Amino acid sequence: MKQNNFYITTPIYYPSGQPHMGHAYSSILADVFARFMRINNCKVYFLTGTDEHGLKIQKSAEKVGLDPLIYCDKISKVFRELTKKLNLSNDDFIRTTEKRHYKSVNDLWNRLIKSGDIYLSKYKGWYSVSDEAYYNDDEIIEKDGKKITTFSGSSVEWVEEESFFFKLSSWEKKLLEFYARNEKFILPVSRRNEVINFVKNGLKDLSVSRTSFTWGIKVPKNHKHVIYVWLDALTNYLSALNYPNTKDILFKSFWPASVHIIGKDILRFHAIYWPAFLLAANIKPPNRVFGHGWILSGDEKMSKSKGNILNPQQIIDTYGIDQLRYYLMKEVSHGSDGNISLKSLERCINSDLANNYGNLCQRIFSFIKNNCNNKVKKTNKVSNSDKEIIKKTRELTNNLRNEMNNQNLNNYIKAVINISFLTNKYINDEEPWKLKKNNVEKMNNILHLALEQIAKISILFNPIIPKATTKVLDALNVKNNSRNLSFLDRKNVLAEKIKIKDLNILFKKIT
Ligand code: ME8
Ligand code: MG
Repeated sequence: MKQNNFYITTPIYYPSGQPHMGHAYSSILADVFARFMRINNCKVYFLTGTDEHGLKIQKSAEKVGLDPLIYCDKISKVFRELTKKLNLSNDDFIRTTEKRHYKSVNDLWNRLIKSGDIYLSKYKGWYSVSDEAYYNDDEIIEKDGKKITTFSGSSVEWVEEESFFFKLSSWEKKLLEFYARNEKFILPVSRRNEVINFVKNGLKDLSVSRTSFTWGIKVPKNHKHVIYVWLDALTNYLSALNYPNTKDILFKSFWPASVHIIGKDILRFHAIYWPAFLLAANIKPPNRVFGHGWILSGDEKMSKSKGNILNPQQIIDTYGIDQLRYYLMKEVSHGSDGNISLKSLERCINSDLANNYGNLCQRIFSFIKNNCNNKVKKTNKVSNSDKEIIKKTRELTNNLRNEMNNQNLNNYIKAVINISFLTNKYINDEEPWKLKKNNVEKMNNILHLALEQIAKISILFNPIIPKATTKVLDALNVKNNSRNLSFLDRKNVLAEKIKIKDLNILFKKIT
């Protein structure tokens, strides 16, 4: 992978049901980082898609009486449409039923056979169809007469069948060394410790094929077996870069992946199995796996009657996509779980978007329209309060690249909203409206600085709320090639003399 290139992925989702807020959350999170890296002058490749093989999907299709592929076509399309509704900037959408992916999985399998990491034996143990995962005895309990796994609470069944195994046990030490060498391979740190402890407790060889159903990619040269859906699914990250053609420009530019964005539910697969498969196949593991927390919903404490929101489409229709994006990113970022509710959504829209950033833009733009004919020109006189806000803004922006390099989106949002708050305060203190009669020069300087602040805030917020900020940057006549982070290196976004356009209301206050 070339420096300055950035490859980011979402999980590929099971089309076993309609997309919900959890899927929307992961996808938007990945999109924010993708967009940020683009304005940070990186070449970005952003991938999402659907995971279409395995017993879970076969069963979902059977339930509605459809052929699995027709079933997948139908629901995968809904996921693809959601990428538009969420305003994702993904470069590709992969389906594991595509030819390019078959080729890639076959090649990876053959590499693992060649390296001696796969052998044929018999599997005996617990399997959860819902998680598509094998569990150890010590991860199983009985509840209401049913066996479930303590890991996720889903029910498990006993499986005994001929199976190919991946020699995961022999990668234990090498994985621990790999984690030690790559301190930020797993973020947040709490997740990293979880994984390391799991590996230290000992790894068993992993069953990587099934014979009791057919919906999957067949094992090369042994068509009785289909490849375990997780080995199949993880390989999507390679397939999209035209692996196995490792000389392909996409592969050469973007592998290893910069970061796989996932939920903590699938950390084991991404942080243990995936690097083990890749190390065994002599392919570089990804640079990072970021396991975010869960949006809590659907559990007893939360219900529609309590105003909890589950359906992303409904929220978008009622409040708008930028509003949903901002809320989810602010509320549930970092590693921890987050509760969402209509009440806190509305509070968040009003306080940050309507009253803070939206109001800042509105008041400045309409004042300039009404008093300056949309034209502002600055001189080189800089007052102490100008210096003060410039300095504070710099302090707040100094560390932003670093925050985003570590997926600290919460800190990023906090800093940017703070700049907006400070700019509102600057205007309140400077009272440009009082200067209209006898100090037009100073008034212009204040307004210009306010617009410069708005430009910076809009660029910084662009990855999170692309629609509204694009309107503002358009109204400021900021050229496309200036909508990036070069101002962090002490350049101004705006020219000394500018003409702006009218700006309509950005965010309606919810009452
Ligand atoms: O696991 N809160 O697909 P999946 C936050 N196909 N994120 C959530 C969430 C919630 N309540 N619910 C789901 C699979 N997610 C596999 C992945 S990748 C090679 C294969 C998000 O449809 C989160 O990212 O069950 C989680 O990891 C993912 O959706 C699981 O989606
Ligand atoms: Mg799941």
